[in-house]
This record gives sequence, C-alpha cells and structure tokens, in this order.
Amino acid sequence: MKKNTNSKIKILPAALTNKIAAGEVVDRPASVVKELLENSIDAGADEITIIIKQGGKALIQVLDNGSGMNESDLLMAFQRHATSKIFKYEDLTRVRTLGFRGEALASIGSVSRVEAKSVLQNQNSGHLVRFEGGVIHGVEGVAGNHGSSIAVKNLFYNTPARRKFLRADATEYRQILGVANRFFLAHSEIAFTFVKADEIIYELKKETQEERIAAVLGPRVHKNLIAIENEAPVKIKGYIVNQDAFRRSRGDQYLFFNRRYFSHKSLNYAVVSGYGDALPRGLFPVYLVFIEMDPELADVNVHPAKLEIKFSNEPLVFSSVRGSVKRALTSQEAVPEIRRWGTPEAARQAEWLGQTKNEAPVPENSLQLPQLFASKPENANQLAKGETLIDSPQDVTREKIIFERTNVWQVHNKYIISQIKNGLIVIDQHVAHERILYEQALDNFEKRNPSSQQLLFPQVVEFSAEDYSILLEMIPFLEKIGFVVKSFGQNTVVLEGVPSGIKISDDEKVLLDILDEYKRGKKDNAEIRENVAKSYACHTAIRAGEHLPLEAMNALIDKLFTTKEPYFCPHGRPVIIHISLAELDRRFKRH
Ligand SMILES: Nc1ncnc2c1ncn2[C@@H]1O[C@H](COP(=O)(O)OP(=O)(O)OP(=O)(O)O)[C@@H](O)[C@H]1O
Ligand SMILES: [Mg+2]
Repeated sequence: MKKNTNSKIKILPAALTNKIAAGEVVDRPASVVKELLENSIDAGADEITIIIKQGGKALIQVLDNGSGMNESDLLMAFQRHATSKIFKYEDLTRVRTLGFRGEALASIGSVSRVEAKSVLQNQNSGHLVRFEGGVIHGVEGVAGNHGSSIAVKNLFYNTPARRKFLRADATEYRQILGVANRFFLAHSEIAFTFVKADEIIYELKKETQEERIAAVLGPRVHKNLIAIENEAPVKIKGYIVNQDAFRRSRGDQYLFFNRRYFSHKSLNYAVVSGYGDALPRGLFPVYLVFIEMDPELADVNVHPAKLEIKFSNEPLVFSSVRGSVKRALTSQEAVPEIRRWGTPEAARQAEWLGQTKNEAPVPENSLQLPQLFASKPENANQLAKGETLIDSPQDVTREKIIFERTNVWQVHNKYIISQIKNGLIVIDQHVAHERILYEQALDNFEKRNPSSQQLLFPQVVEFSAEDYSILLEMIPFLEKIGFVVKSFGQNTVVLEGVPSGIKISDDEKVLLDILDEYKRGKKDNAEIRENVAKSYACHTAIRAGEHLPLEAMNALIDKLFTTKEPYFCPHGRPVIIHISLAELDRRFKRH
C-alpha cells in the first residue's frame, strides 16, 4: 500500500498506546498491587511478600517463590499482549488463571520505573531487568532463590496528570490493604508477609480458611461465623456472620468466583435478602462467598480491571447464593450463642462479682452493678430524717428517699418505683445511671489513676481518617475514665481496657457509639470534657429493657443521691418523678 503523506490519522507509538491502556488497568497503587499479586499466584507461589512505601507512590514490591521466568520471558512479560496464559479464543472462554490479557506488566511498566528479577525453579541464579517508562535500561545476571521480584518505583512519574490525582499516602495505603485482604482471604494456603516501610503489618502463615479469617478480620468476626454451602452446578462455600458481628457500614463483604474477587451488586443483594428479617435496617453483615463453577458458565473479561463477572445464568447463581444463606440461618449453628463463662464478657462479670469461673453463671437477663452494690451514700450517716409533703421532684430531699423508701419495684424493666413516706417516686433507670456515670467521668478527669479492667482479647478498631482525628482529641479524656486505647498504625487503635465497674457487652461497639455521640455534641460546639463525659455516660449506662435485681435497684438509687444533680440527666431529661400522697388523694377525690 502506498504511503499517503497527507493522512491525518496515525498509528500511535507503542510507548503511548501502553500509557493509554495503563489508564484502564492501573489507576492507583492498589491496582498495581492487585496485578502483581495475581501474577505471583498464577505462577504457583505459596510464599509472597508485599512491600509498600509512601502509600505505594515510592515503592510497590511483590516477591514470590513461584515458577520464575527465564531471561527472554522476563523481557517479553513487559510487552503488550504478551501472556503465557491463553493462546487462542477458546482459552478466553475457560480462563482458570487470574490473569489472561497479557497487558498488566506492560501497563505498569509504561508508567513507572521497574526492577524485575526472576530465577527459575531449581536454579540459584537468574536475571534482573530495569525498565523506565517501559523502555529497557539494562539486563544483568543475578544470584538468588527461585521466584520473582517485581519492584515498581515512582508510579506515574511520567504521567503527572494521573499522579496529581493520587490521594494522601494514608488513603492509598488503605486501598492497598483492602485489595491485599481479598487475596489473603481467598488464599489461606499461601503465606503472605506485608511490609509497610520497615514495619511488618501482616505475617500470615499457611493456614486453614477459618484461621485466615481470624487473622485478617479479627476474632470478633471469627467467633460469629456461620458456614454456608451449596452443591453443584453453583458450588458455594463460605461464611456469613450472626448479628453479633453486624457492622454499621458496608465493609468486609467478599464475593469470589473460582477464587477471583469480584463485585456484583445483585449478588450482594442475594446475601442480604437471604438474611430477611434477621438483618436490621442500617446494619451490614460480613460475608465471604466462594462460588466455584465451570469457567465456561461465566465471562471474566467484561471489566478493564477484571473486577466484574457476567454469569450466563445469573438467576441460578442468585438463588443459589440466597438459598445457601437462608439455609445456614435456619440451621442449628445460627442459634445465638448464650453468653457463658469463658467468654470475655462473662469473665469480666465474674471478676466484678469476685466469683471464679466454676461458680454458677448469672442469669442472662440480670444486670450486675457491682460498683453500685457496694456503695452507700458517703454522707448517709450524717443525714437527719425529715418529713414534708412533697410536690415537685426537687422538693424530695435526698435524705427522705434514702431513708424513707420501703419497697422498690421495677416495672417494664425500665422504671423503678418506690414508696416513700408521703407518696411514691418513679425513677428512669437509664437516665439515673447516666447521671451517675456522667458525674463519675467528670470526677475522674480531675484524678490521676483511672481504674480499668483489662480486656482478655484486646480489640483492634479501625476508623475512617476523619473519625480517627476526632478520636485523638477524645483519647486523653477516655483514658482518664478508664479506657486503655493505644494507637496502632494508620487510623487504627487497640482497645486494651475499659472502665472497671460497668457492664459492656461489646467493647468495640461502645467505642464507636461514644464516638458517634461525641460527633453529635461537637456539632453543637459542646466542650470536649463535657461532651466526652456525656457520650460515655449515654452509651455505658444500663438500658431500658434490662432486668435489675433488688440490690442493683437499691444501689442505683443510693448512688444517684450522691450526685450533684440527681433530678436531671446530663441531657436535661428528668430522672425522677414524684407523686405525692396529696396528689393521689386529690385525683381519687378523697378530699
Ligand atoms: N511473578 C511472576 N512469576 C512468573 N511469571 C510471571 C510473573 N509475572 C508475570 N509473569 C509472566 O508474565 C506474563 C505477563 O504478565 P501480565 O500480568 O502482563 O499478563 P497476564 O498475567 O498474562 O494477563 P493480565 O494482563 O490479565 O494480568 C504472564 O503471562 C506470565 O507468564
Ligand atoms: Mg497478570
């Protein structure tokens, strides 16, 4: 064909087409991590190390003990459309590997500086190749164990527009962790080490699926797992969780197709709808659903970053997923665990009560208020008895209530009623306890040594960047109350202790609830001290609905009347209502 010099249309040079293609495959450091991990897994590695510097902007390195590449393959690997995984069209319809397009390394190479080293199996030397913007800058022989190491430096150094769109290191880092977690969870047969700068963040050994879930998602999720299962043609294995591990935001929800992570709105809904009424509004379950199917029944080539999948029979997959969830929830395993001795919470209860683990358990619905049991109003002995007719709560002297109350009843597990000499009082148990805890917190801010109970299982709690910065301003005060909160890397804390003497059934949740309450107060410009004390009191006080034994009710009332302001809770709600005999007589027209 004769070359037409007037033609406006030109074929772009490979260096430029690669950069353009890179925009689809590699949009941030986390996608580089994804591609490199896929390659290492496809190469049969069972030990993989990931090293990240500056949120992946300075360095992303993945080292594996996989098959390795010889010199020519190592050079080829960075060419576009170079793959060892498919050869013809039919192969594309039955992909069993994670990669298949032969474009990941070419894309990554074109927008970074790469050092790729590889040694074949049964060898102790191989090759190191350097690329800059996809252009080879030298090959040399190197010694080393078999496997490959791909180091990606200065990502997007030659595409400033894209580099500009990168977020803060911490944000990119979190994205990377999110991506890495998917691989950790899908491949418990692989040992992973994850290093951030010089700090080892994860060191995961080869282990069972459940052990891996515990290591990655924490003991709380692990403790509440419910296995799900479905037989072929849509083979499903995996886990959902019971209510104790529900979250307030969508987070750890994983779908895998032949162990490839993918996102799929309708299958997410399949899981959620499988829960039905068991899943309250606004809460999200944690789940891992592994779908194993003939690869010919799905198309994995429908998304630039291979993150979506199209099923040839989606309704069948949907109903299989939903069915597996439903069946699991109606089976034995889903019966909520009755808290027994041996759970951290029970151990704490026992500690408060001075009991040992061998003693009889406390009935589930009875509330323990040990610090209240022991209490007596400090000035009780000096108080004189007096008798007056009382019409408004403020007129009820503390003395009268302490000394004159006779019987005490709890009604509707919510209010405490007591007869006093000239009538009766009704106390709201929640706000009463709130008032007590609020004043205790304010007192504690002035004191030196808070009293804490150590958690048997410290809780690692992760926050959004914004919440974390708010938490930081609360921590000095929370510590004074008795929380032991240690900073643990980016936006994460370890909760090691909680104030002693209060009953907390869910340590992590209490911390999150206090934070949320504090944020509401912050909107009204509340003072930090006050706001922490209020938020704490509000979320640790006994609730309406909790049964109180007689001693607990008496202790609660006694303690309430040692506070400065027993009649109103810190939010201004009334704590006590008094109905005088005169008022009752009047209503019954006894006059
Ligand atoms: N860590 C590794 N160990 C051994 N071989 C590797 C490794 N990484 C890449 N390769 C080889 O390089 C080839 C190109 O990798 P690349 O990621 O670019 O494409 P792919 O994995 O085939 O497809 P995709 O673009 O979908 O990822 C692979 O097909 C594989 O043969
Ligand atoms: Mg690949």
